[in-house]
Amino acid sequence: MKVTLSIIKADVGGYVGHSDVHPAMLNRAREALAEAKEKGLLIDYCQAKCGDDIALIMTHDKGPDNEEIHRFAWNTFEAITEIAKDLGQYGAGQDLLTDAFSGNLRGMGPGFAEMEFEERKSEPVICFLADKTEPGSWNFPLYKMFADPFNTAGLVIDPSMHDGFRFEVHDLIEEKKIIFSCPEELYDMLVFIGAPSRYVIKHVFRKGSDEPVAVTSTQRLFLMAGRYVGKDDPVMAVRCQSGLPAVGEVLEPFAFPYTVAGWMRGSHHGPFMPVGTDWDTPTRFDGPPRVVALGFQLKDGKLVGPRDMFADPSYDNARRRALDIADYYRQHGPFEPHRLPLDEMEYTTMPAVVERLKDRFIPLEGTERDH
Ligand code: F6R
Ligand code: MG
Ligand code: MG
Repeated sequence: MKVTLSIIKADVGGYVGHSDVHPAMLNRAREALAEAKEKGLLIDYCQAKCGDDIALIMTHDKGPDNEEIHRFAWNTFEAITEIAKDLGQYGAGQDLLTDAFSGNLRGMGPGFAEMEFEERKSEPVICFLADKTEPGSWNFPLYKMFADPFNTAGLVIDPSMHDGFRFEVHDLIEEKKIIFSCPEELYDMLVFIGAPSRYVIKHVFRKGSDEPVAVTSTQRLFLMAGRYVGKDDPVMAVRCQSGLPAVGEVLEPFAFPYTVAGWMRGSHHGPFMPVGTDWDTPTRFDGPPRVVALGFQLKDGKLVGPRDMFADPSYDNARRRALDIADYYRQHGPFEPHRLPLDEMEYTTMPAVVERLKDRFIPLEGTERDH
């Protein structure tokens, strides 16, 4: 059976500040999802969240980019925005960049990661949701899962993985894409995906198949809105086992709290902290950035789950290290590399400050001689 897994997410109001989502908003999401399932639009759903972002995890038979599914998500986020406004939630409706829905969600604010595939006899899938970071943050773990034999033993040991995988990489600035076949083109690919603010892995495919085995959301709010409206807070879905990385190989990259961009005002680097769903509420300096992992077994499109995959003591060291790294970064205050490099600060509110001072700069010529 062919099934589509869609994760569609948006920040339509924070509780308190940008740290969490009010339960009444989550209830509204759940009601809308239940109604859509009742009406036959969805096979199944799970309402989820990370920090101030609500995720609608849905299965259906309509394929990616489907107008009905995208319209449903848009209408749901609009309805939730009304509740956010009633409760005075912070940044109510923040990610809904246009007044009305038209066709699909592309360029409209909400992020989406969708893939259609033939459901296997047993189909374990992990949905990752992040807060206070950008879409390229999935580059590092996707590389580790599908291309690094030091992470994924199956690349060496499992004959069905030994040939490697293909990666579809998007250039978010020039709006182009390229496919890299790995391991042959690993070094070429790393030239690009090591710059995650611009180059982002969108899909991973098995060799010889166009059916995705992993998908990410790639929207960048700044590029859509033309101004800073909050961080993108991306999502990702990864299929596991039987010729794909095992669940443990898919989770393993997060045992290292690698550095991502997006902390405080979308302007700072910080450690990416894996947390259980009880701890997905970034508060210290609006962070540090964090990620939750919801595991499901799919059965005829039904989402059997979720299992809270990072609610496990084996990530305690990663969390501890993340907090030490957070302390280290915080001591830099407004200095790089805690603060993002200048070219990326263009995507924040800082250019407005720089603009005010630009006429105060005078040429250096002659100044040394004058003294
Ligand atoms: C939101 C975020 C926060 C805000 C910060 C300032 O995703 O990362 O750190 O950028 O709280 O928010 P405003 O400008 O709304 O007061
Ligand atoms: Mg927010
Ligand atoms: Mg957020």
